[in-house]
Amino acid sequence: MTANPSKSSEERHVDTSALWTAETKADPFPVYSMMRKEAPVCRVVTPEGFEIWMITRYEDVRQALTDPRLANATEHAPEWLRSLGLVGEGDASLGRHLLTVDPPEHTRLRRLVSKAFTRGRMEALRPRVQRITDELLDAMAAGEEADLIESFAFPLPITVICELLGVPGEDQDDFRGWSRTILTAAFTPEGMAERAGAGRSMARYVAGLIARRRPEVDPAVPPGEQPDLISGLILASEDRDTLSESELKAMIRLLLIAGHETTVNLIGNGMVSLFRHPDQLRLLRERPELLPGAIEELLRYDGPVDRGMFRYTTEDVEIGGQRIPKGSAVVGLLGSADRDPARYADADVLDITREDTGHLAFGHGAHFCLGAPLARVEGQVAIGSLLARFPDISLACDPSELRWHSGGFGVVRGVEALPVRLRAG
Ligand code: HEM
Repeated sequence: MTANPSKSSEERHVDTSALWTAETKADPFPVYSMMRKEAPVCRVVTPEGFEIWMITRYEDVRQALTDPRLANATEHAPEWLRSLGLVGEGDASLGRHLLTVDPPEHTRLRRLVSKAFTRGRMEALRPRVQRITDELLDAMAAGEEADLIESFAFPLPITVICELLGVPGEDQDDFRGWSRTILTAAFTPEGMAERAGAGRSMARYVAGLIARRRPEVDPAVPPGEQPDLISGLILASEDRDTLSESELKAMIRLLLIAGHETTVNLIGNGMVSLFRHPDQLRLLRERPELLPGAIEELLRYDGPVDRGMFRYTTEDVEIGGQRIPKGSAVVGLLGSADRDPARYADADVLDITREDTGHLAFGHGAHFCLGAPLARVEGQVAIGSLLARFPDISLACDPSELRWHSGGFGVVRGVEALPVRLRAG
């Protein structure tokens, strides 16, 4: 993988075919390191033939995330992306929601949503998150081994988000299926049809849920204090402005998807990183007060959102000395930015006592993760309780045997299964 000298001096091109291999899914960091050095802003062609610009250095990614010339609104998306039906109003897309609009529409939506989805509501969930965690750990304790994804990392966030929204327990398995399909189905005609089917089922279900909740909402209770988030969102208003029915539906579907698979992989990737660094695992077990900082370091070291969401150039834009033409799809590689040695000393070292945070695992700027306080609560309670309950927990396979998946164009990255031995011996 060396620079291709036949290209114009303006565009530095490298062989990025390794981006799509199984080895890179398991460990993308060597390719990212090469890209940061050889072509930090790089035009990449996916195996399907789609052209994407990738940004790999911390400072460039951070700046790009606040650059108004890089839009989220899908009307600026290149034709190939629109023809896939992934953006716009098709069944495979979630419609217009926070991540697909720009200011001032984004500012309006985010203000309304924030009235119901408050930091207080998220923090108040801590005891409930603890109770769900304890129940899952109790069930696991009956055996000697477990798949940590199946038994713990997967059910915890879906249960939390369903309870937050007010989705009954008996429907939660459906959500698990729809959410996974929407995030991980292939970009083939079959995959797109599957994705659209799951999108339709979820939309139908959410519409029913809103219709059932609407007549029960008590307007005397402020949105942030409504018993569940759907009721809060129904009531959220400012200057008589409220969320429309389609905004409400899109928001709820976004929360389900954005809040689920990401948190699964915070727990999964976090535990893999700790298993691979027994000294750090031991330190965390001995000094549980390090937990909040450890979660931040695990997010930096191998966070769930590896490659960020698309942005679209509304005009020709120069980033890191590279011109990106108008109408391009651009992705900031958050996983690469957070391992940039220009930003972090010993960037490839996992150090749970690291004080220099500022990672980009939750994004940056106007679209900074709305659910970050909840994700942090879940990560801290899950990993803290797991280590307290099973002090001798260990990986039950060689790390090289773990199978990694990366949904879509690699937005979310994590292990498919995580076999663990719960006790010593
Ligand atoms: C946005 C990561 C958990 C809801 C984002 C973005 C990132 C991210 C990187 C910004 C994307 C961009 O700018 O392109 C994560 C990670 C999580 C997590 C790593 C877990 C460890 C959650 C949870 C929820 C949530 C639990 C809700 C329950 C959202 C929403 C947005 C968002 C609504 C869109 C915000 C906006 O556009 O204004 N998240 N997230 N996320 N996240 Fe999260």
